[in-house]
Amino acid sequence: MSGQENSGSSKLWGGRFAETTAASVEAFTASIQYDARLFRHDIMGSMVHARMLARQGLISNEERDAILAGLAEIRDEIEAGTFEFRPELEDIHMNIEKSLTDRIGPAGAKLHTARSRNDQVALDLRLYLRDEGRELDQLLAGLQEALVRLARRYLGAVMPGYTHLQRAQPVLLSHHLLAYHEMFDRDRGRIRDWLARMNVLPLGAAAMAGTGLPIDREWVAAELGFSGVSANSMDTVSDRDFALELLFCLNLVQLHLSRLSEELVLWASKEFEFVRIGDRYCTGSSIMPQKKNPDIPELIRGKSGRVTGALVSLLMTVKGLPLTYNRDLQEDKEPVFDALDTVKASLAIAAELLANTTFDQDRLRQATRGGFMTATDLADYLVRRNMPFREAHGVVGRIVAHCQERGIELEDMSLEEMREFSDRIEADIFDVLSVEGSVNSRLSTGGTALARVEEALRRAEQQLGIAR
Ligand code: ARG
Repeated sequence: MSGQENSGSSKLWGGRFAETTAASVEAFTASIQYDARLFRHDIMGSMVHARMLARQGLISNEERDAILAGLAEIRDEIEAGTFEFRPELEDIHMNIEKSLTDRIGPAGAKLHTARSRNDQVALDLRLYLRDEGRELDQLLAGLQEALVRLARRYLGAVMPGYTHLQRAQPVLLSHHLLAYHEMFDRDRGRIRDWLARMNVLPLGAAAMAGTGLPIDREWVAAELGFSGVSANSMDTVSDRDFALELLFCLNLVQLHLSRLSEELVLWASKEFEFVRIGDRYCTGSSIMPQKKNPDIPELIRGKSGRVTGALVSLLMTVKGLPLTYNRDLQEDKEPVFDALDTVKASLAIAAELLANTTFDQDRLRQATRGGFMTATDLADYLVRRNMPFREAHGVVGRIVAHCQERGIELEDMSLEEMREFSDRIEADIFDVLSVEGSVNSRLSTGGTALARVEEALRRAEQQLGIAR
């Protein structure tokens, strides 16, 4: 196989070659299978490039118009699924350019004036990812909305808050849900920051040193909605920071989704029974008739592995590359596309899943009983009565040990019993030890008191434009 040659037509770059390319080489180097999805952005960039060439007198207006018409035709055919991609033409750029030249003749051959595939592919990827970034923001907002709607619906429901997965202090379910709203808010901010930094035109760097032809990069940048042009032609064609940064952003999104998923899996178990996921969003077992499994959150959790793989893969590809463009960089696309597809699908299904999840408020409340979750409140009560916190901690520790010995809870103790540990304890202690009393005492900014959570909820609703 390795010595076999293709019978095909000459390459766009075929001039200096005496032999045709080996078929095995064509198969090994082709990227059209996955970079075809860049076609819209490739054509968008080429159209603006052609208009710039005409403005600069590098091609005639007739040539420009022929190019624009030809490209529009190609775009329509690709969209309609009637365009024939040819693997021997390597990538999306060559497939489009060759087809253009076949259609319109010599004018097509002028499109690549003052341009290299090295700056072209950098342009295509930035344009493509810019659109994806905006879509990601929409999906994140959709998920936030699902969380906020749940937080509104269950406002007032209490549940245990955990540290070390041990019952720690009672909180509002809405407070817990809004914690995820915050995480996804940071994700949206990170994507905005990334978009602003990456929105710079690479076209005009040409192969790597710039061009001697009189191009107008600033005009192209403005036409394509970039906020500026890249500063160094060598950096421009070898830089993939923008792809890596996006992959990191995607990793945090998927990580947040994974943590949420883990909680849903746990909470859907018989041991917890905090949530009920709608039947349409669960699957059964092929052998155990009674099973209803939370496969969606499990898969979201599981897919975080491949998203991390994508980041590590591209980091390793770029590490150790000399300046400037190296063909290794073609390996940027598959991990980026796969991570994007995975995260977008996970975000969409997670929002649907939450919209089809209900909470069992009685179970949540029951779980706040037992586990001495108001022990900190008792200590704080003693502090308010002037006992140093460390001393109060000791007193409450002894009370808890006493309860454990007798197999009772804090709230089961009589006043006299408690006063044996400290005479600063009085009858008002029972308000403090109630779950609601504990929750609503936590009025510090960002705390779980109902008043605070209501404020946070209103802010989130306003930000998302959710009418009440
Ligand atoms: N398919 C290539 C890529 O994805 C396009 C750039 C090719 N440049 C080159 N000098 N071979 O990176």
